[in-house]
Amino acid sequence: MVNVTFGFHDGTEQKIDAEVGWKLMECAVNESVPGIYGDCGGEAQCATCHVYVRPEWQQATGERTPAEEAMLKATYGVTEQSRLCCQIVVSDEIDGLVVDVVND
Ligand code: FES
Repeated sequence: MVNVTFGFHDGTEQKIDAEVGWKLMECAVNESVPGIYGDCGGEAQCATCHVYVRPEWQQATGERTPAEEAMLKATYGVTEQSRLCCQIVVSDEIDGLVVDVVND
């Protein structure tokens, strides 16, 4: 398990324990994180798992996948920090990760 924090527009946060090897979206849905829905089941087809990765964590979370890049082109509010968290696989390297939820 690693610790991941989700930040919200009202300044509040939710910390979860995320299972290594799971998609971050799956962990968030499992913990009922507001604004993370995972409607497409993690196939990078819906953007209901859109988050902004804090700059200090962008390297650890890796590059966008091609499918993710394509979906983000059709998504509102995209910035350089945008990721679909169904495309982030939880690993020990992201222990302490902080992301901001876009759709809360
Ligand atoms: S769950 Fe649909 S794009 Fe991530």
